[in-house]
Amino acid sequence: MRDMATDRSSVTAGNTQPSGPARGTRPRVLSGIQPTSGSFHLGNYLGAVRQWVALQESHDAFYMVVDQHAITVPQDPAELRHNTRLSVAQLLAAGLDPERCTLFVQSHVPEHVQLGWIITCLTGFGEASRMTQFKDKSARHGSDRTSVGLFTYPMLMVADILLYQADEVPVGEDQRQHLELTRTLAERFNTTYGDTFTVPGAYILKETAKIYDLQEPSAKMSKSAATPKGLVSLLDEPKATAKKVRSAVTDTDTVIRFDREAKPGVSNLLSIYSTLTGTGIGELEQKYAGKGYGALKTDLAEVMVDFVTPFRERTQQYLDDPETLDSILAKGAEKARAVAAETLAQAYDRVGFLPAKH
Ligand code: TRP
Repeated sequence: MRDMATDRSSVTAGNTQPSGPARGTRPRVLSGIQPTSGSFHLGNYLGAVRQWVALQESHDAFYMVVDQHAITVPQDPAELRHNTRLSVAQLLAAGLDPERCTLFVQSHVPEHVQLGWIITCLTGFGEASRMTQFKDKSARHGSDRTSVGLFTYPMLMVADILLYQADEVPVGEDQRQHLELTRTLAERFNTTYGDTFTVPGAYILKETAKIYDLQEPSAKMSKSAATPKGLVSLLDEPKATAKKVRSAVTDTDTVIRFDREAKPGVSNLLSIYSTLTGTGIGELEQKYAGKGYGALKTDLAEVMVDFVTPFRERTQQYLDDPETLDSILAKGAEKARAVAAETLAQAYDRVGFLPAKH
């Protein structure tokens, strides 16, 4: 592990830097988020989105809302469209700045699917069958209710990444295997057809950024939890959020101390508090020495309300102004296509497709 925030061990495993499109000196990052979640929750935000915001300062950053990945499972069309806008609005509210990063919607850039086909043809059937996320999801739904799109999902993701010659891909631990596949396929293409793609490193978001359920602090905060009481949705009424914090599960002890094993509930509250305010855990332990859980919860509830209130307002402002949002996305798609089209043209040529003459 090289630094505090991330495990970048595989970055050192040999980035190649083929010619590729002209670019600045900053390393390039790319990541995607599915538009299926509706409201972001605190786990998404602290685990991923906040990192995205930070990376736009130091990196040439490309971020997209992956609507084409979303339809690998059934979606209601009106809801998908709404959730896509809602995701973009929340990303902007969280601090992504279209002047400092390229923010776009996947389906606005047709090159993803075009390169996706080539990648699919480069992938072994057995190799794809070993993707654990697919195995889990298809086991849950049964093979007749599992789309072929869900099976080829990782290959579209590989295309997403390789099109932009990304150096690093910030994702959660659950995407590690897809990242490994990306590296394998990039290398396979380069060996078969000549150097074309940057082999990206993983940028796995570290455990401490992990936020747990407020009611069941041994489980990761997630939309699919048994009860919504443990889930902090950023677009909820701030009052409801404050209440959830105050009724968070702790333990029968009274000491405020960070101990993930023995005191998962209290530790979760401490790490949320620490992450939102930038105060160290040790400092918080000192601040609350001799005080009860009630004091910690009351203060954290206030911190949360101060955080979600402006977030909600900013999101609503973007939703209320669809023209601004559309023009941000149009510019984002244009910037993205400039890079994607060049990479795709190179890949088409290397594979041996006959150029279309206009
Ligand atoms: N599969 C990712 C997820 O579910 C989303 C995603 C799609 C992605 N394409 C990507 C992430 C490209 C990083 C890079 O979280």
